[in-house]
Amino acid sequence: MSIVLGIESSCDETAAALVTDDRVILAQRIASQDEEHRPFGGVVPEIAARAHAERLAPLIEATLADAGMTLDQVDAIAATAGPGLIGGVMVGLVTAKALAMATDKPLIAVNHLEGHALSPRLADASLAYPYLLLLVSGGHCQILLVEDVGQFRRLGTTIDDALGEAFDKSAKVLGLGYPGGPALERLALQGDAKKVPLPRPLKGSAEPHFSFAGLKSAVLRAKQSGEYTDADIAASFQQAAIDCLIDRTRRALAKCGPVNALVVAGGVAANKAIRSALEALAASHLLPFIAPPLSLCTDNAAMIAWAGVERFERGQSDPLDVAARPRWPLDPEAEAVRGAGVKA
Ligand code: KG4
Ligand code: ZN
Repeated sequence: MSIVLGIESSCDETAAALVTDDRVILAQRIASQDEEHRPFGGVVPEIAARAHAERLAPLIEATLADAGMTLDQVDAIAATAGPGLIGGVMVGLVTAKALAMATDKPLIAVNHLEGHALSPRLADASLAYPYLLLLVSGGHCQILLVEDVGQFRRLGTTIDDALGEAFDKSAKVLGLGYPGGPALERLALQGDAKKVPLPRPLKGSAEPHFSFAGLKSAVLRAKQSGEYTDADIAASFQQAAIDCLIDRTRRALAKCGPVNALVVAGGVAANKAIRSALEALAASHLLPFIAPPLSLCTDNAAMIAWAGVERFERGQSDPLDVAARPRWPLDPEAEAVRGAGVKA
């Protein structure tokens, strides 16, 4: 059996986890920085880097203690090496390098997006390559064909906002708290999705890309008009977002060739209306629909450790001078899409 220590520090979550090659999460800890960033209404990179630096070492120690293990029993050390906020990424990667050097264990530099993309295989042993992955969160909005470890085809991306960002911004217009996605979903249950005419940006276009900025602006205009209830706006927004998502994913399914499953990951995968719409789409294509548990969908270190396991099993590791990368596309051949504003 092999055991990999995973470290995640690319945004505002400091996390460590120990994962085995037979898919057991022996221990995992996540320290969120919400309190530090709340006064600024968003993640402040300098504050994030400092908080990671203060917390990471004790967090790794505590994770090892939770599993009743020492570092000597670990087979490899995997850390997010990008993409993300570079200060935080460096904290995690430098820590991993120091541990790898001190213990003479292999270092595995993991692409954070690969962590997300492979996490469904940690949760579900039956999920085989290739599969079509919809990665939707506050920072990610991509449709990926996952062919193997390190082998991705990016079929679609957003040309402006990520889907979770659109939920959060629309929720803000409606005076709901941050993060707004869950609150907006609750309010939508009380509204009529047919009441407010809203656009479906890029619906029907040939390439399966996304755009949500126009939808968000239309929500603002609907609110300012004073003609609609907040619940009707919320329900209409959510339906417009789902219509876009389904149309774009259907397009991707038509383009990607045979796949074993339709998979969704990322914080937005918590949305029940979105889940059931995707499940119906998968069923109409006779495909299984897989959504990992939410704890694996949002940023975490178990997914980084698991990506490490998959690479370790293939005999892959990285030199100790491997560089942190603020930008690191999964599919280097994907064309830049005009206006792409995808955060890591
Ligand atoms: O993956 P995540 O925790 O963080 C990153 O963005 O990396 O995703 C958080 C995003 C937020 O934009 C949040 O509003 C959205 O996921 N979200 C939801 C729901 N729960 C979380 N959006 C719609 N409906 C939900 N139920
Ligand atoms: Zn992420």
